[in-house]
Amino acid sequence: LNYLTPKSRQEVLDLLVTGLKRLEYRGYDSTGVAIDSPDNKDIVMVKRTGKVKVLEDAIQEHFSGGEYSEPVNTHVGIAHTRWATHGVPCERNSHPQRSDEGNSFVVVHNGIITNYNDVKTFLAKKGYEFESDTDTEVFAKLVHHLWKKHPNYSFRELVEQAIQQVEGAFAIAVKSKHFPGECVASRRSSPLLVGIKTKTRLATDHIPILYGKDADSGKPQVLPRSESTSEFMPLEEKEVEYFFASDASAVIEHTNRVIYLEDDDVAAVRDGTLSIHRLKKSLDDPHAREITTLKMEIQQIMKGNYDYFMQKEIFEQPESVVNTMRGRVRFDGNAIVLGGIKDFIPEIKRCRRLMLIGCGTSYHSAVATRQLLEELTELPVMVELASDFLDRNTPIFRDDVCFFISQSGETADTLMALRYCKQRGALIVGITNTVGSSICRESHCGVHINAGPEIGVASTKAYTSQFISLVMFALVMSEDRLSLQQRRLEILQALSKLADQIREVLKLDSKVQELAKDLYQHKSLLIMGRGYNFATCLEGALKVKELTYMHSEGIMAGELKHGPLALVDGSMPVLMIVLRDPVYVKCMNALQQVTSRKGCPVIICEEGDEETKAFSTRHLEIPRTVDCLQGILTVIPMQLLSYHIAVLRGCDVDCPRNLAKSVTVE
Ligand code: G6P
Repeated sequence: LNYLTPKSRQEVLDLLVTGLKRLEYRGYDSTGVAIDSPDNKDIVMVKRTGKVKVLEDAIQEHFSGGEYSEPVNTHVGIAHTRWATHGVPCERNSHPQRSDEGNSFVVVHNGIITNYNDVKTFLAKKGYEFESDTDTEVFAKLVHHLWKKHPNYSFRELVEQAIQQVEGAFAIAVKSKHFPGECVASRRSSPLLVGIKTKTRLATDHIPILYGKDADSGKPQVLPRSESTSEFMPLEEKEVEYFFASDASAVIEHTNRVIYLEDDDVAAVRDGTLSIHRLKKSLDDPHAREITTLKMEIQQIMKGNYDYFMQKEIFEQPESVVNTMRGRVRFDGNAIVLGGIKDFIPEIKRCRRLMLIGCGTSYHSAVATRQLLEELTELPVMVELASDFLDRNTPIFRDDVCFFISQSGETADTLMALRYCKQRGALIVGITNTVGSSICRESHCGVHINAGPEIGVASTKAYTSQFISLVMFALVMSEDRLSLQQRRLEILQALSKLADQIREVLKLDSKVQELAKDLYQHKSLLIMGRGYNFATCLEGALKVKELTYMHSEGIMAGELKHGPLALVDGSMPVLMIVLRDPVYVKCMNALQQVTSRKGCPVIICEEGDEETKAFSTRHLEIPRTVDCLQGILTVIPMQLLSYHIAVLRGCDVDCPRNLAKSVTVE
């Protein structure tokens, strides 16, 4: 940071803690912060196990002294909230990790350094003693080792050299007491951006990239400063504040102007100037990194009048689905334009098959729309979990079209699967909610689902918007198919009514809350359905598991008789989705199989369907829509149910234990 107006260390700490709170949904096992001591000679760290609030309290205790309230012109602070990969969540394993007892170099890191054992062995031989179980600590110590070896190197050169020696995924920010007022950050596979706040607009909207040279050995090495092609390049405007963050939500209250760093970029701030450096120039490298202006608003990442982000996001769905369709669907002319893929439609139509790849909830949106895609594109459609897809080394061909569905656009499994398919020449289509994310940038074309920021770890509005995006794609693909026009019209009409129907479903909230009171003390919940509603069963069960820690299973009703029926008795809670669609009769068979085993299922049925309702005393009625969009209306009661059960069980709704929103490790 280089302040527009001088700030005290206490203000810096406030700023860091607020930033961490905005990022907390990404991980919340433990937290930590590092700033300079009042005499600028040392680095002071505070670390805590648990959520940011615990750190905030500790900071208040620690830094209440007057010397921390004196204003300074320049100051670098770093902070982190962790989702544990290596080492249990505890203070010792929290970030920042340090190079030595003197805190020469301190590091915060997202991702996994996969060769950390080799680096650790190397450093141990040099006399380094390790105090944590983290992979991150080796990075801090490696930079320290390089600093001792190359006393003339700049801070940026040291970090640049260190990243050449580590493998895996990282987004790191490094601070050093030997380089006060400087910060160096870099990324590989994990997201990292730089927020830039200036008093007046910068003269330029891009930061030039500076290049080093390759060493003769072929192994990249940092050259002594004099031989390097560049030095720090000052911005026009000197009074700048810089923010390195893994997600825009941490910086949006300060600035909406950001640069998304690319893999192996090394960004350094010194004397109020930012430079972005790369060791090697490759052919397709642009000469500069553009400053992007974000459209996100701070209100979008605030809870407003809701108790939890998840609750707010469930209730936003009438608007978020409209935002997904905005400017794309013309209900009067029955036309759909998806600007991000329109030029690729002829190529997509010629493809061999469509592959839909994702993880968690995003995968379920693929399951939900597969049948419609098969119907309207008349192409084979494969639906894949990214991790399993990679495990199988699935054959991919140049004439495949691969969709990567991801709310965050950063999920490592999905991103790896994307790179795998891209290497094999397939056309890559990204379906994401995060403009500027890795999946977005690495796709050939794509659709932004425009659901707005989703903060609750359990995905809700992103699911319904992914669902709508894939439906719109199916409609685009069938535009010139005469035989399908009637069907398309029916779907378009249903889409136009969807927002109002979602509002109707949300009115079930208090009824669902009553149902949650019946269910919350049980150990298990089975959710059954088939056809277009099978995805709702999977998604509903995932919501229940992740939010309430109750066991829950989404069961394909057709499979009931092949095993799951053994679980059913008078006490096992069962929820069944039975709608008037082509699988109604088959669903009724399953319903009777359950009731004749003394099961008393909760039924989700269509409004006024007395015949179906007669099978149980407990039901939730939803408005009638076209079969392929039912999944949007049936998933909402499941979102509400898991939410209410979680509240009744005293669970942390927005931050379920052991989980993180964006999992940037494989
Ligand atoms: C994590 C989250 C899930 C999410 C999944 C995929 O596991 O906890 O809610 O569905 O990642 O995330 P993505 O950002 O790729 O949609």
